[in-house]
Amino acid sequence: MSKPRIIVTRRWPEEVEKVLTEKYDAQLNVDDVPMTVAEMQDAFRSADAVLPTVSDKVNAEVLGATPMKARMIGSFGVGFNHIDLDAAKAAGLTVSNTPDVLTDCTADLAITLMLMVARRAGEGERHARNREWTGWRPTHMMGTSVHHKTLGLIGMGRIARAVATRAAHGFGMKIIFHDPFPPRAEDIAGLNARQCSSPKEVFEQADFVSLHCPGGKETYHLIGADAFAAMKPGAFLINTARGDIVDEQAMVAALQSGQIAGAGLDVYESEPTISEPLLGMENVVTLPHLGSATIETRVAMGMRVVENIDAFFSGKTPRDKLV
Ligand code: DGY
Repeated sequence: MSKPRIIVTRRWPEEVEKVLTEKYDAQLNVDDVPMTVAEMQDAFRSADAVLPTVSDKVNAEVLGATPMKARMIGSFGVGFNHIDLDAAKAAGLTVSNTPDVLTDCTADLAITLMLMVARRAGEGERHARNREWTGWRPTHMMGTSVHHKTLGLIGMGRIARAVATRAAHGFGMKIIFHDPFPPRAEDIAGLNARQCSSPKEVFEQADFVSLHCPGGKETYHLIGADAFAAMKPGAFLINTARGDIVDEQAMVAALQSGQIAGAGLDVYESEPTISEPLLGMENVVTLPHLGSATIETRVAMGMRVVENIDAFFSGKTPRDKLV
């Protein structure tokens, strides 16, 4: 029997690409150039499975390709707001993602951003590299302590809980959260986490607000001018979730007016473009969407896609089936 044909839209870790080429008739993207809409449509017309990632737009236009040959989308990444799930379902496609394997890695990066922005690490590094440092002094570049402060989580899924664990046990932070689908009591045991009835309650009480809700229509611009106005003066915003949860223009205004003290950002509204004013602000840490970027995690994400497509092509339900 011939092997199913799969098309991988971007470069994946070598170890995973090797497995894919052994098991499947695989077309890799060795140049790692993002595919155009027409190329994506061709992929859906010619492959049995397309393996996109979070930077591809798998929208209704792409999924409208005819005649559709593909039967499966094995997405590399946990977030799936880049895929129109309704259009995929209507086209008869099964879709999977890669949860769990990037939880710790992404939580580590949220904590990295929180510490960097609170302790002025980005600013300090620029200062040192620019040879501006004139020596130790008691008032030089004083930051903010995170210890025993209140961390407010928007969304309380796996990654948020991993952030809360680090913050509560590492820094004695008080944890408050809002999630329209609250976690089970056993999932937050030991965190002493208090559930708030609205995002606003979180904004009003948190010293650090960290975003962990999915992107997409429901959360688009959830953090806008009203949210910034509700935040404590001196609060910091951390975003490792999705850029469009935050109204980037409103965030720039809140940072410029001093309404909030700083922001630690890994994701942006129009990636890979970052709003120009953010790049000039010392109290903003900007990382290029590195949440899951460790070798261990990226290999695990790829292997999780392999597990999902293996299941699909052997007639089983993929472990991470979304539709
Ligand atoms: C995801 O998997 O959704 C992340 O954003 C990639 O790190």
